[in-house]
Amino acid sequence: MERTFIMVKPDGVQRGLVGEIISRFEKRGFKLVGLKLMQISRELAETHYGEHKGKPFFEGLVNFITSGPVVAMVWEGKEVIATAREMMGATNPLKALPGTIRGTYGIDVGRNVIHGSDSPESAAREIALFFKEEELLSYEKTLDTWIY
Ligand code: TYD
Ligand code: MG
Repeated sequence: MERTFIMVKPDGVQRGLVGEIISRFEKRGFKLVGLKLMQISRELAETHYGEHKGKPFFEGLVNFITSGPVVAMVWEGKEVIATAREMMGATNPLKALPGTIRGTYGIDVGRNVIHGSDSPESAAREIALFFKEEELLSYEKTLDTWIY
């Protein structure tokens, strides 16, 4: 089953959007397999966003992502990587479709509430960067035994 790395960025935590974002993934039927509140070090931020090193927004991005607590998560499910990107909306919230997370809550490209892996390769890389193997749980959802 596919897994992706999702992070509520410092602006999302500050604005009290953690529950709302988790809720959207839960309601979509995805499974939460890893979760932690953490403050990202400069080193981790620079590695995580390594593909953007040298771009004009890199320094501001690293400053922002290290500015306060984030909620790092791993979500599991069929085609969760691409579906999460659709649920998030475009990088620039002003371009993100209404109803998407960024299109609902985003204010500016530099404060766009959420991160999500953009490919299977980046998902594997980012999950390994933020989580130890033992921090990711495999479990069954057993709703069908009691829901009607
Ligand atoms: P990117 O990986 O292109 O976007 P996404 O988060 O949708 O995968 O860029 C990473 C982050 O860098 C993005 O979420 C916000 C920030 N950023 C800027 O501040 N300015 C920019 O012009 C771009 C492209 C990104
Ligand atoms: Mg990206």
